[in-house]
Amino acid sequence: MANERRRAAHISGWGRYVPTGVLTNEDLSRMVDTSEEWILQRTGILERRVAGSGETTGSMSLRAAQAALDVAQVDPRKVELIIVATVTPDYPFPSTACLVQDALGARNAGAFDLSAGCSGFVYGLNVAAGLIEAGQYDNALVIGAETLSRITDWTDRNTCVLFGDGAGALVLQANGARGGVLSSVLRADGSGGDLLKLPAGGSVQPASSESVDQRQHYIHMDGRQVFRFATRVLPEATRQVVELAGLEVEDIALYIPHQANGRIIESAVKALGIPPERVFTNLARYGNTSSASVPIALAEAIDEGRVQRGDLVVVAAFGAGLAWAATAIEWSLPLPVPKQPRRRILWRRMLYHLARVQSWRRRLCRRVGAWLRRLVEGEDA
Ligand code: COA
Repeated sequence: MANERRRAAHISGWGRYVPTGVLTNEDLSRMVDTSEEWILQRTGILERRVAGSGETTGSMSLRAAQAALDVAQVDPRKVELIIVATVTPDYPFPSTACLVQDALGARNAGAFDLSAGCSGFVYGLNVAAGLIEAGQYDNALVIGAETLSRITDWTDRNTCVLFGDGAGALVLQANGARGGVLSSVLRADGSGGDLLKLPAGGSVQPASSESVDQRQHYIHMDGRQVFRFATRVLPEATRQVVELAGLEVEDIALYIPHQANGRIIESAVKALGIPPERVFTNLARYGNTSSASVPIALAEAIDEGRVQRGDLVVVAAFGAGLAWAATAIEWSLPLPVPKQPRRRILWRRMLYHLARVQSWRRRLCRRVGAWLRRLVEGEDA
C-alpha cells in the first residue's frame, strides 16, 4: 500500500549520569610520566569522571535510565526490553541489565547485557530499534554504561589518560509517525581483537594470582593501530548509514561520533566534509567513556538545544572487537519537551521505592521457602 506508514523506533526519552569525582590532566601528571599539554594535544581530553567507591555500572545505569523514563513519561512497568551495553558489568553474571530491571521494577521486561566494546550502545540501539520495527516490542530502554576506572591500569600512561566513567540511556518507542531510526550499520573485524583487550578474567586466562601479578586484568591497547582503524571506519560507516537512509552526508544536522580522541574526530569530520558546528563533542570533560560516550553526548546535545524536529542525527562508534557501528535518526519529537507535573515524577519515584520493597520481599520469600523445604525434608529423612 503506497500510503502505509512504516512502524519505526522513535526516541522519546534520554538521560545521563556522570560521577561527581573529577580527575584532571594535572592529577594524572602526578601519577604517571605525562604532562597536561601532552594529554590535551594528543587526545583533546582535559578531565574525566571517576566513579566513587559505592558507584557501579549498574547504579549509574539506573540513574541514567530513571532520567530517560522521566523525560519519556513512561511507567517502568511498561518497559518490555532493557539492554545494557557495557564492557564493565557489575558481574560476569547476572547481567547488569537484570539488576537494572529489578531496581526499576520493570516487571514486564526482558533484560540482557551487550558487549561490543565502545560500539556497544550503537549496537544496542540497532537491536532494540529492529525489534520494535518488527513489532515485537513497543517500549525499550537502551543504556550504555561503564566503570572503566576499575579496569584502567593507573601506572600505564599509554591508556590511563584516555578513559572515564558514566552512563547514558534512551527510551525507544514504537510509532507510525515520520522519522525515528532510519538505518543502521553494524560491522566487526575480529582479526583485530588483540589490539584492544582485557586479557584475563575470561575462559582463556581465568583469574589467578599470576594474572593479577602480571596486570592482566587491565586494558591493554595498541594505541597507534587503534587510531588507524578508527580514522578509517568512522567516515566509512557514517557514509554507509546515510546512504542506506537514502540521504547525503550534507543532510546531517548533528553528528555525534564516539568520544575517544579529538584527532580521530577531526580526521573523520574532515574526510566527511561536515562543518564543525554540526559536530557534537564533550570529550574534553569526560574522556572516553566507551559504551556510555554516545548516549551521554546525545543527551547533552538535546538538552543544549542542538537538535530540532526533522533533523538528521547520525551517531557512530568504534572500538574493541574490533567492532564499529552507525545509526541515522530523523528526530521526530518536538523540543523542548513540556515540563511534566511534579506529581508524575513523584509517582515514578514511589514506584522505584516499591520495586525495592518487592525485590526484598521476593528474596525473603525464596529464603524462607528454602528454609521450610529443608525443615520438611529433614523431618522426612
Ligand atoms: N604522556 C606522554 N607521553 C606518552 C603518553 C602519555 N600519556 N602516552 C604515550 N606517550 C609516548 C609514547 O611512549 C611514545 O614515546 P616514544 O616515541 O618514545 O615511544 C610517544 O608518546 C608517541 O606515542 P604514540 O603511541 O605514537 O602517540 P600517539 O600520538 O599515537 O597518541 C594515543 C597515543 C593513545 C593517544 C593515540 O594513539 C590514540 O588515541 N589511539 C586510539 C586510542 C583509542 O581511541 N582507544 C579506544 C578506542 S575505543
